[in-house]
Amino acid sequence: MLVLDTIRKAQEVLGQLKGKETIALVPTMGCLHEGHLELVRLAQKHSQKVVVSIFVNPLQFGANEDFDKYPRTLESDVEKLKSVGVQYLFYPNVHDLYPDGFSNQVQVGELGNRLCGRFRPGHFNGVATVCLKLFEICRADLAVFGEKDFQQLQVIRNLVRDFNLPLSILSCPTIRENDGLAMSSRNRYLSQKERELAGVVPKTLRRLRDELGTYPSATVYDLLATARKSLSGIEVQYAEITEGANLKTAAEEALISDLTSPRFFLAVKIGNTRLIDNMSLKELR
Ligand code: PAF
Repeated sequence: MLVLDTIRKAQEVLGQLKGKETIALVPTMGCLHEGHLELVRLAQKHSQKVVVSIFVNPLQFGANEDFDKYPRTLESDVEKLKSVGVQYLFYPNVHDLYPDGFSNQVQVGELGNRLCGRFRPGHFNGVATVCLKLFEICRADLAVFGEKDFQQLQVIRNLVRDFNLPLSILSCPTIRENDGLAMSSRNRYLSQKERELAGVVPKTLRRLRDELGTYPSATVYDLLATARKSLSGIEVQYAEITEGANLKTAAEEALISDLTSPRFFLAVKIGNTRLIDNMSLKELR
């Protein structure tokens, strides 16, 4: 695996491949787990060369968030990437990506203010800005994102559409632990007791799925009531059902079966750790 630790090196090496071999980019912030490796496997199915980027992007962290303490585990990340046969690691530093005088940012529209955006103002502008830069630097033909961060995925799809970026976006289903907890680099913040408590998140998703199976005529209100009950005692940032690609809040009285792409989204705090999850309510019917 070749490590490209500057933008210039990445542009030189990947620029030479352009037009000869297809390049897939898997953007990450490191602290890699099985979920990331699944993104890599999907990328490998669809392209000849795979670049994984590792960059903890300061632009997407709020002032009181975990930028400084975000886990950085380069050595074990490199081993994992080698074990699945990744050809290139792009590992730039902050000054390279954001030199003095850096001043432009992507402004994500309304979608960026919903769900996580309500609790993390500016977060999606930071994500979209860094992804735009990574797509350009790596000259990617496609990029792969996980459905665990479904709002991020939609933000990126909109970015590609709105700026006519010449790449396709592929998404990979959420990879889960044995009890159903979605894999996330932040799960390592959880103490053993908090990790047990976190099981309420996948349990809530299962309860909604079961309810919809038993009562196909359930409304948005019904499912949200079940979710609230399931999450009692937990600090819930939001539990919402959305409709459509722009993730608009669905009307409470709507029947789930009348919606074309209903999706349940959840953000909770267990101790100081923020966990998010989501699932489609469509293919369950
Ligand atoms: O999902 C992530 O890890 C990050 O938001 C991303 C896409 C790498 C951008 O920094």
